[in-house]
Amino acid sequence: MGSNREDIFRLMFWILVGSGVPAKGNMCLKPEFYQNMRIGEKLLGEPMVFHQAGGLLDCYRQCGLYSLCQSFNYDVETHQCELIALNNTITEPVVNNIIMDVPNRYGQLFGSCENHVCPNNTVCRVEGPNHACVIVGCHGNPDIQNVNIASFEAKSLWFFNETVMYACKAGYYPSLNATCSVAGTWSPFECLPFNECDKRRVCGGDATAEGEFWVFIETLGGWVKTYCRSGNNIEYVTLYDINTFSTPIFVKDPVTCDQAPVTPKLPSMGHTNFQKARVLLLQMKIKVDTFRYSNSNFTKQNFGSAGDCVDNDVNDTNSDCGLIGRFVINTNGTGLRIKSSVTWETWGVGGRVGNITRSQDGRRIEGYCGSVVGCGGCQPTELLLELDPNYTPPLDSATFFKCKAP
Ligand SMILES: *[C@@H]1O[C@H](CO)[C@@H](O)[C@H](O)[C@H]1NC(C)=O
Ligand SMILES: *[C@@H]1O[C@H](CO)[C@@H](O)[C@H](O)[C@H]1NC(C)=O
Ligand SMILES: *[C@@H]1O[C@H](CO)[C@@H](O)[C@H](O)[C@H]1NC(C)=O
Ligand SMILES: *[C@@H]1O[C@H](CO)[C@@H](O)[C@H](O)[C@H]1NC(C)=O
Ligand SMILES: *[C@@H]1O[C@H](CO)[C@@H](O)[C@H](O)[C@H]1NC(C)=O
Ligand SMILES: *[C@@H]1O[C@H](CO)[C@@H](O)[C@H](O)[C@H]1NC(C)=O
Ligand SMILES: *[C@@H]1O[C@H](CO)[C@@H](O)[C@H](O)[C@H]1NC(C)=O
Ligand SMILES: *[C@@H]1O[C@H](CO)[C@@H](O)[C@H](O)[C@H]1NC(C)=O
Repeated sequence: MGSNREDIFRLMFWILVGSGVPAKGNMCLKPEFYQNMRIGEKLLGEPMVFHQAGGLLDCYRQCGLYSLCQSFNYDVETHQCELIALNNTITEPVVNNIIMDVPNRYGQLFGSCENHVCPNNTVCRVEGPNHACVIVGCHGNPDIQNVNIASFEAKSLWFFNETVMYACKAGYYPSLNATCSVAGTWSPFECLPFNECDKRRVCGGDATAEGEFWVFIETLGGWVKTYCRSGNNIEYVTLYDINTFSTPIFVKDPVTCDQAPVTPKLPSMGHTNFQKARVLLLQMKIKVDTFRYSNSNFTKQNFGSAGDCVDNDVNDTNSDCGLIGRFVINTNGTGLRIKSSVTWETWGVGGRVGNITRSQDGRRIEGYCGSVVGCGGCQPTELLLELDPNYTPPLDSATFFKCKAP
């Protein structure tokens, strides 16, 4: 190692002597200059700029002209000069490399750029007795809501036409690419929330992954845990409790109120349990007749509906036997609940809306409906949803979309 060091010092002598840096008068390098130097080491991390230097001093000068440059790597063999913006202390041993910090911009090396205070995204240019700050790229975050600061800070200096990947926070996508303009500013864009599963297509990548995602519902002003189906990108809400709807396979005797099983079943009779409900995000309501995630016996029952049938052969229309069609809606665990304004209307012949009870927390609604003369029951007018004010599913139970680039 010792002889290597000597070699390098010898090399350096020639580098300094041979450096093509124009310097006025007698270029006297003060001892402090060498204090900032480490030989046989290299700073790790992404360089801000690569520069083919005329020598060590040229590299030093280049670093000093860039407002953001703090230190550099200099390869004594190739004269490759890597300007580094951060106060980086992590190094690795590299025989042919020199690290130097550039703590100030003093000295004749900098000419009229001596001690310059150019903006961060510029490089100082000597113009006779004056200096100019020449924009070379973009630095820092745009003042835009929901940007991903870490993405912008991943590089100290972005060059013209460079695009920042993942410019927005998870859950948001850039309306346009965030690109560094020749003015040294970020091109205009907005970070928009993912407000439907299909918006995943905007960002390319795997737009068809199936599972639970957070989708922002503007009308509710909040994030909803949504099940995105693959392929068609249709939205569902996964249900965690029993959601069951029935028109039982019995007819009631209007005189005795006895329930007798019927064969063949009447057309409206059946049971359906739902595991997921299809949601229409724009209106924020449940679409009651999508049965993809349900199982049924006999005739499918719409979400929210129930009914029963009275034996029409027995003529006692004034009888009011108990209604045996039953429904249970339970949004417990979804972070949503049915709006309290939702009402039920009748369907069929002699339909009646019986007692409908809603739990205190609004998550469970149980109702009994049926008919007094034929087959009938009740169905909701519109199953509008709202955010559950007292429950939000755990953040990690669903994924926020991440958008690399639109
Ligand atoms: C970087 O280090 C220099 C001295 O080595 C110090 O003067 C300067 O304040 C540091 N800058 C930052 C941003 O930490
Ligand atoms: C320049 O960049 C440094 C380091 O990122 C920062 O501390 C400083 O505030 C910036 N100056 C301006 C004017 O943006
Ligand atoms: C940036 O992109 C524009 C349009 O594609 C092009 O005209 C311009 O030369 C590019 N500038 C740089 C510095 O690459
Ligand atoms: C955004 O940038 C990416 C990566 O450079 C590119 O593939 C994509 O086409 C750009 N999108 C638009 C809308 O310009
Ligand atoms: C359908 O019938 C089977 C067998 O009797 C029963 O296990 C299942 O729970 C029924 N499904 C519904 C939705 O009622
Ligand atoms: C039931 O009563 C209606 C009139 O109220 C009558 O038209 C019908 O034939 C009766 N049905 C039976 C089965 O008696
Ligand atoms: C609702 O009505 C059904 C039958 O009509 C009955 O069995 C049930 O106990 C009633 N529930 C309430 C809470 O009144
Ligand atoms: C919702 O689920 C929790 C935990 O499983 C339970 O304690 C609570 O009783 C449920 N509420 C309803 C309305 O079912």
